[in-house]
This record gives sequence, structure tokens and C-alpha cells, in this order.
Amino acid sequence: MFLPSHVIVRVPATSANLGPGFDCLGLALKLYTTFEVELLPGDMAHDCEPLVEISSAWGDDPAINALPVDHRNLFYQTLARRLADLAVPVPAMKVRASLGIPPGRGLGSSATAVIGGLLAAEAIAGRTPSEKQRASLVNAAVALEHGSHSDNVAAALLGGLVVTTWDERNDSWYAVHAPLPADLCAVLFVPVFPMDTIAGRELLPGQYTKADAVHNLGHVALLLAALAVGDLQGIGAAMNDRFHEPYRARIFPQLPGLLAAARSAGAHGACLSGSGSAILALTTERTQEVASALAQAARSLNIDGRVVIAGLDHCGATVESDHCGPRVEISTSSREEIVLRCAACNRRFSLERTAYRCTCGQPLDVALDDVGTARNGDALRRCFDERLSSLDALDRSGVWRFRELLLPLPGVEPITRPEGQTNLYPAGRAQQSNGHGHVGEFTGLDRLWLKHEGENPTGSFKDRGMTVGVSIARWLGAGAVACASTGNTSASMAAYAAQAGLRAIVLLPEGKVAAGKLSQAIAYGAEIRQVAGDFDRAMADVERVCLDEGIYLLNSLNPFRILGQQSLAFELLQQFAWGVPDWIVLPAGNLGNTSALGMGLLRARQLGLIDRLPRIASVQAAGANPFYQSYLEGFTALHPVKAQTIATAINIGDPVSYLRAKSVIQATNGLVAQVTDDEILQAKAVIDRVGIGCEPASAASVAGVKQLVSRGVIQPTERVVAVLTGNLLKDPGAIMLAHQASRQTLTGASL
Ligand code: F0G
Repeated sequence: MFLPSHVIVRVPATSANLGPGFDCLGLALKLYTTFEVELLPGDMAHDCEPLVEISSAWGDDPAINALPVDHRNLFYQTLARRLADLAVPVPAMKVRASLGIPPGRGLGSSATAVIGGLLAAEAIAGRTPSEKQRASLVNAAVALEHGSHSDNVAAALLGGLVVTTWDERNDSWYAVHAPLPADLCAVLFVPVFPMDTIAGRELLPGQYTKADAVHNLGHVALLLAALAVGDLQGIGAAMNDRFHEPYRARIFPQLPGLLAAARSAGAHGACLSGSGSAILALTTERTQEVASALAQAARSLNIDGRVVIAGLDHCGATVESDHCGPRVEISTSSREEIVLRCAACNRRFSLERTAYRCTCGQPLDVALDDVGTARNGDALRRCFDERLSSLDALDRSGVWRFRELLLPLPGVEPITRPEGQTNLYPAGRAQQSNGHGHVGEFTGLDRLWLKHEGENPTGSFKDRGMTVGVSIARWLGAGAVACASTGNTSASMAAYAAQAGLRAIVLLPEGKVAAGKLSQAIAYGAEIRQVAGDFDRAMADVERVCLDEGIYLLNSLNPFRILGQQSLAFELLQQFAWGVPDWIVLPAGNLGNTSALGMGLLRARQLGLIDRLPRIASVQAAGANPFYQSYLEGFTALHPVKAQTIATAINIGDPVSYLRAKSVIQATNGLVAQVTDDEILQAKAVIDRVGIGCEPASAASVAGVKQLVSRGVIQPTERVVAVLTGNLLKDPGAIMLAHQASRQTLTGASL
């Protein structure tokens, strides 16, 4: 029999009961646990234990630490028993489980193991169940589930809201999907303490009164009808239970207070999820308010836990298997090896931490310097160069082609377009006699290249970091992601979140975002929140919102975004056939890109990909120049400024990545420059006019090159790369301004 080498099953969390629907209703949530099975050669010998490696987005949780990692593991047990039923010998295997859901919280964690094991066995046996066969797998799942319950397993298998009941006529479980309003969302409060399902059942009475039975029956009927017709008030009225909640509340005294807080903040209904300890609130419009109210109620009731906003999963568990090796051939460092580290005070944190500031206040980085990749420049260059002729989507991504350098972690499923692969246009006087050469004339350089990051899928360099950031968000089990933005980050995050099926929230400085970028965020379905203030205010707001509400932060404070953006350095060096230009010049705002470029170059040298470093010149707009001023003062301090520049993308007065950027400028013997809005617009007009085009902030790099050449800092014969960070169409409003400002220049440059 021909076995696949890898099987990956992704199973959603589920919430059972929804108040009155005791043991018969289950709802699937967009929070996932992923099981990756690697089949090893040979049969499972009796004395050879399957190795189950467990990682989780929930940190050091005792309930997770207590999960068995040998043959008693529920996922493995289910898989082995199903294979035995199918008369397939159990092959040797390695299992990696990435838990998006902690056990013992009433979120269907054991159902994920049962459904995961069942579907993995089906895939190993070479079977792909049809939709109808899938529904019949509910029987097998209930038989393998410890408590013989159908509600969680059915919803995990089928997705959406599932009603299950025992069908006496056929001696089997009957499962059917019930309709849901399209915009329904779940807000969860997940306490730090688990509640044991089986012990919890002992609290329940042996018999119920007829009045209680009739009450619950009527409420289930009302709930299903209200959900089907979108009667939001009816949902609230229906989510009331007499079968279990009142009894379980006896060992969870804060429960009524938390439910009341969610309801009064605008949840249509709220209940204990399954047998607890998590709480489920259903919302449509007032999701954020409900999340904040739950966080606040938990604080005042003195109960520790996390608030998670999760969309509803409508597809159920998914299975991927392949016959020719893992989808991501990453070197598999164990997650314990990789840590988050503060460059300022050297404190270390686990990879699961999602508050991306150190306790000392500085941003954290992913510390990859001493793990994963062997320092073998020749082998790495050969591997990356071979991938240039591959048709695989990951190899064609100018980010994931360098995956060994970015994310040597097992189980991360890349969300990719693919991105990167942007052009490097020769535009120096000695290189081009065609139109592009005018940029060389304008700057006074013989050898100049324009690296056009505006050719990324959403039109800016942000996609390089976002593909990694959003993949990690999914891996960590986030339901919602957020960022503050001058425009490009929000457009990129909205697109990748849509692809990943995550809810996206963007905070934008009101009236200060270029039309192209705002339209993208709206079109890709992000929730837009205008902030009355500038970017720096929106940035402070988004950090607070994310911490309060358990939303995953995707600004460049996020170290995985910085990691993804390092690929700009690797791709550029590869385009130079692993040679090194003398200068790389780029625009700077929040300083994420300057930091990432520098960190990438330093790692490239450390790994032996290159033998010397180019110098980095980071260019700010004169009206938003705190980094430049700090540079002039020998980087002794950063004094935030009130930013005002036409280049809205870099209209930032208090950059988050100051320390990171300062150290890469120092390490590359680089410098910081500033250019006026007029210089920016003149450079933009030249870049536009030669047929390449870019947005105003991007032109700061070419304006900076021109200035540095005229000041004698860059020599006319040096090899210089200017990075164009965003697409021309991002800011249509700036085009006429550029032409007015540059009439003289255009004549001077004889265009
Ligand atoms: N160029 C463009 C086109 C940008 O959008 C940005 C940043 C930068 C340069 C500066 O890069 O912040 O890493 O120093 N835009 C962010 C945003 C702030 O929200 O889109 P940085």
C-alpha cells in the first residue's frame, strides 16, 4: 500500500449547548488545533512509542502539560483504532499537535483529537470521505470519544451549527446543519482554570422536572428558529438554560457576573461553553464592546483568563496529505529552541507570548541567530538558487523561498500569495540609455538600481512581513488581527487576513490615509476605525486594544513581521548573484523596514551568504524626522516630533522600532538623512515620468540618494540600490502635486 508521507488535519474548536441545547447543539469556531503526522519508514513496532510533540498558543498551561505524549494520547489512540477498523497496519509516525485551544475549557479540545485522529486515519488509508460519508463518521467519533457525546465531535467534523440526536430507527446518530446569521461572531472568555467535564457531570441532578424539560425544549426550538431567521432578540431570549448552567455555576461563582457583563455590553446571548470553564457570547455589531466588557468584568471579579474574538467556522475539519514530502521543508528546530528576546535588556520569553513588548518596554525580536540553520553559505545559496526554477508556490515567493532563514518551525502553514519577487530595475547613467537612465541622471549616479517593492501583491513591501505575521497568527490560533497604519500595513493585513479567514481591524489616522490604501482595506473587508489624531495616537490605541481584548497585533512591533521583511535583504542579494552593493537607501517612518533590512543583512553575513555588508542610508521626511535628529545627536536619545509631511506613509513622529534601527545603522556603518517634501515630489515626478512610478514616501529614497551624491557622501561610481516601497496608484492625489513641484526639474533633466 502506498502511504502519504505527511498528513495535516486542522480541526476547529467547538462550543456545545449554547445555553438550552444540552448535549444536542454544537457550534464550530475559527480557532484551530492542527495535527501534523509524519509517517516514518517501517511499521509501528510494539516497543516503539509514537512521538507526540505538543505546542500551544496558550503558554505554560497545566492542562496542556498534562496531556499524554505516548500511545495514550487521544489523537494517536483514535488514529490507531480507526486504522485497525479499516484493517490498515499502524505505520511508525511522529505527530506534532499545535493546540489553538486549551483542554478542559469546554471548547471541544478532546473532540479535536478524536476528529483529527479519525480523519488522519482515513487519509493514511487513502480514503477521502464524501460529504455524506463524513456525516456518518459522527458515529465512529462518538464511539471513540470518552464521554460518548455527539455535540462537539459533530460540529468539529462538519463545521457551523450542528444539531445531533440519536436516531432509533437506524440505530445511529443523526447530524444536521442548522442555519446561522452570516455576521454572527463569538466572543470567548477563557479562564486560566479548567473544569473537568466528567467531574462537572456529577454536579447535575439525576432527574429533571417536567417544567424544566419543557422550558429547555421551548428554548432550543426558539434558539434554532431565531438563528435561522436572524431574529437577534430571539437569540437572547432563547439562551437560557435550566439543565446544567445553574448547577455548574455553584463551582464557578463569577459565572453570572461575566454573563451579565457580556449581555449588557450588547451580546445577543451568553452562556457557559459546553461544561465550562469558557464563556461564549454571541454578537453581531458590538463585538469589541462585548470583548472589552468581559475583560473588565474578569478584572473586577478577580478571575484570570483571556478574551478571544473568534469568527464561526463553516467548513469543519480539513485534511491535507501529500505523497512527496512535507509542504514546507523547513529545518525543524523545536519550538523550545526559538525564543523571543529583548535586544535592550536581553530578557527572553517563550514563543507563545503575544505581548510583543518586553517588560522593559522595548519591542521583542525572534532570536534566530543561534538555531536552525547551519552556517554554510555555499549550500544555502545553492538551495535558494535551485528554487528559482521551481513552480512551487512557496519557492516562487520571494519570502518563503528563504524559509530556512525565516521560520524554522514545524507546523506553520504559510498564507502566501506569493509575495516578493519584485523587480530590480537598473537605472544608472552607465547602465541605461533608455528612459530609466534618467533616474541615474537625476541622482548623478552611474550604477543605480530601483528595487520596486510596490510590485508586491497589495502594492507595498508590507506583504513580506504580513505573510509571515498572518501565518503565525493562524498558527497561534488567533481569531482576529489588528494594526494601526498610515495605510499600507492596513491594506496588506486586510488582504492576508481575508485569505486566512481571520477578522481584521484597522485603526487609521482620520483624513491622513491616501485614497488607494483606504479603498484596499475597505475592499478586503477590514473593520475600519478612524482615530481622531495622528498615526502615533492610533499606534498607542491599537496596542492597548490588542492587549485588552486578546486580539493579535500585526504592526511592525510584531517580531514575525520584521522577520518576514528580512527577506528583502535576501532577495536583493540573490538578485545581485550574492554580490553586495555599496549602499542600500530606503525611506523610514516607523523604522520597521530599516530594522528588518539591517537584521537580514547581518544574518546573511553571519550565515556566510555574503562576506561584507553594504551601508544602509535611512531617509526621513524633514517634517517627520525624529530618527534623523537622533542620528545628528549621536543617537543619545529619541525625541518624538509632531509629524507633518506630504508623504503620508511616513508621517510618523514616534517610531516604534527606534532601537532596532539605531543598532543596524551603527552595525552597517550607515547613516540617516532627511529630505523636504519638495525634494520628495521632484524625485517622485522623475520616477513616475520614466514609466516606473511610486508613491511619495518611496520617492524619499531617490531624493535621499540625489542629496547624498551632491553632498559627496555617496560617490558617483558607487553601486547604489534605492528601495521603492509603494505603488504609484496608492496615492493618486499626490500625482498633480508632484508635477507642479517638478516642472523645473523635468526641464532640467530633459525628460
Ligand atoms: N514607505 C511606505 C510606502 C510605507 O507605507 C512605509 C510605512 C514606509 C515607507 C516606512 O517604513 O515604517 O518600516 O519605516 N508604512 C506603515 C503603514 C507605517 O502603516 O503602512 P517603516
